[in-house]
Amino acid sequence: MPKVHVTASINGEPAEFLCDPDKSMLEVLRNTLGLTGTKEGCGTGDCGACSITVDGRLVCACLMLAVEAEGTEIGTIEGMAQGEALHPLQRKFLEMAALQCGICTPGVLIAARALLEKNPDPTETEVRFGLAGNLCRCTGYDKIVRAVLEAAAEMRETVA
Ligand code: FES
Ligand code: FES
Repeated sequence: MPKVHVTASINGEPAEFLCDPDKSMLEVLRNTLGLTGTKEGCGTGDCGACSITVDGRLVCACLMLAVEAEGTEIGTIEGMAQGEALHPLQRKFLEMAALQCGICTPGVLIAARALLEKNPDPTETEVRFGLAGNLCRCTGYDKIVRAVLEAAAEMRETVA
């Protein structure tokens, strides 16, 4: 099967790659592009570990064909910090110990950022609903939810 040439933008930088037409975006991110921050948990769209954004929309990279990236803007965890400066969500997760093994964390952070872009002042219920597609076997979720709420408050203050 001939490989397909794909041109996209990844974390604001132009990117291009060759891939088999049946490869998932997750496989290409991790194995072709070396962006291993995006994790594979289930590979079937159930755990959210592979969460990325595609044109600002939250997507499971394991359910997306890499060829579908053509012409899109992809956002991964590698683009979240600005150089040495962590995103407020990343900082709060560290400060509030909202991670343990860390496998779910990149996906949770990407989902939380997508949530706060749509809703900068979510209730606890809205945070829980927004992260419902991201499974964590370690934290019990409470610290994650608190960290997202604190980051949201800080981000609102920065904007105000
Ligand atoms: S690896 Fe994609 S949802 Fe679990
Ligand atoms: S911190 Fe281990 S799965 Fe979430």
